[in-house]
Amino acid sequence: MTMTGAARAILVANQKGGVGKSTTVAAVAEMIAAAGKRGRRVLVVDGDPQANVTVEDLGVTGDNGQSLGQTLQYGVPLVPVRDVRPNLDVIAGGPQLALVGAAAHLMAENGIDMAANLGRQLTALCEVEGYDLVVIDSGPGDVPLLDTYLSVANYLLIPTRDDQASLGGVERLAKRFWRARKRGASIQLLGVLLFAVNPRATKRNEEIFAQVNEMLEGSGTTPFDITIRSAPAAAVDMRTLHRTAGELVAIAADEQRSRLAKLRGKQSPGRTIWSSDPSGLAADYQELVRQIVGRLVSYESSAAVAERVG
Ligand SMILES: Nc1ncnc2c1ncn2[C@@H]1O[C@H](COP(=O)(O)OP(=O)(O)OP(=O)(O)O)[C@@H](O)[C@H]1O
Ligand SMILES: [Mg+2]
Repeated sequence: MTMTGAARAILVANQKGGVGKSTTVAAVAEMIAAAGKRGRRVLVVDGDPQANVTVEDLGVTGDNGQSLGQTLQYGVPLVPVRDVRPNLDVIAGGPQLALVGAAAHLMAENGIDMAANLGRQLTALCEVEGYDLVVIDSGPGDVPLLDTYLSVANYLLIPTRDDQASLGGVERLAKRFWRARKRGASIQLLGVLLFAVNPRATKRNEEIFAQVNEMLEGSGTTPFDITIRSAPAAAVDMRTLHRTAGELVAIAADEQRSRLAKLRGKQSPGRTIWSSDPSGLAADYQELVRQIVGRLVSYESSAAVAERVG
């Protein structure tokens, strides 16, 4: 059952691992929640048994995926971890979800509809809590869970690296997306995001864009113009400190000030972070957020027009 109500859910998925799904979920969710006075209430749903976005990216202990697992199986209400950041709550992921995924066939045989359970409870939670946006992270492997999230979410965002294995993951997921639509899901493809690319490799990037465009033919969408630059040092800092790209900018500025003060006092400056300037990476995510919001507005205004006309 695709989510209904005022909130919309974006699923971030690719059937290949390590392509930036969790990092992107955390960065985008935190930025939208933190956007000044216009900050929206955001819920991150960690649908991955690895729980990377919960534990590594946002630094939350969580419940091992217990609440989400119980909702999928029994349709009970979801229990969020509140105020992980201002305006940002989390439904934790964890190994409980692997058990649920493994039992999916048995559940289906016994008439348990995981997508209906999750869709209903997410819609109810968003109504009570006033979330504007739900961002769902997914693992690379668990197909029954992925199919469930494809049935529930309104939009799909696919991050990919520029290697052929990651692009193969995009292709496999795109096929799964079309199968979900055939089954009656109303999920729409929001776009493909090139992750951890070298922005100076323009020829290579053009080639990748052409390949992705070919894959997306007929889907009505294109890759996002913005790419997320490769930033290995910032990536280490983000995971060590459990901070997103946007949050790292303030930490780096503080670090710079305290290093200068220590150098002036002839002390050894020490080092708590490795990235000297994460602002370029944060700017990439800021632009991504702008493009995501732009696409949501255009999808939703054309849907509203269709409703008025139809
Ligand atoms: N801008 C970046 N440049 C290079 N590496 C990055 C960047 N941002 C994050 N990383 C690193 O890339 C790796 C994969 O990122 P991430 O865990 O977000 O991918 P994923 O698709 O969620 O993986 P999984 O399939 O295991 O869930 C991590 O080690 C992360 O720290
Ligand atoms: Mg992940």
